[in-house]
Amino acid sequence: MSITQTTLPYAASALEPHISRHTLNAHYGHHHAAYVAKTRTLIQRTPLESASLEEVVLTSRQQHMKRLFSISAQAWNHDFLWHSMRPGGGGEPYGAIASLIEKSFGSQRAFSQEFVTMAGDQFGSGWCWLVYEAGRLDIVATSNADTPLGSTQLPLLTIDVWEHAYYLDYQHRRLDYIAAFLGHLINWDFANQNLARAMAAPAQEAAARKAAGG
Ligand code: FE2
Repeated sequence: MSITQTTLPYAASALEPHISRHTLNAHYGHHHAAYVAKTRTLIQRTPLESASLEEVVLTSRQQHMKRLFSISAQAWNHDFLWHSMRPGGGGEPYGAIASLIEKSFGSQRAFSQEFVTMAGDQFGSGWCWLVYEAGRLDIVATSNADTPLGSTQLPLLTIDVWEHAYYLDYQHRRLDYIAAFLGHLINWDFANQNLARAMAAPAQEAAARKAAGG
């Protein structure tokens, strides 16, 4: 199975006016496509040739294959990014994630403020993530291509703060882009789905150990 670029889950114009079709066409059609193509090239005729993208990221992280990790993590991060947004998204969270945000940050407002600070203060290129670990949520920023995938923090949502994600629409005004993401783009359904999986994971592991007699 060859790694292919995920299909964009909406039209390139669907996030307007918050993210223009020009930005999305360049971001998805050029930057993301290039990371996927380069990952495919790097794994050709290697033991990872038929691995999934997630397996390539995890293996390259574990085996300190820095170039393959950076390129494949960028491909995976962008897949995750497209689903972290949706037309008509953003605003107040709902469902299980809303309760856990209250528990972890004190209030929705405190969560938004911390998210703006972490995403806004990320120096240079990188990503900001809402993650789940040990029953709580946290916000973490990663530099360049780094990703929580393969760490103990399970990613629920991400925003891309590389300049290519916003410069055409916002120029240097990264904070306006982050505000648009929070107010109009976040896909809380996706975050709730990821949270449900993350909360089920320890139970699945315990069940697997029990089944194996451990
Ligand atoms: Fe990007």
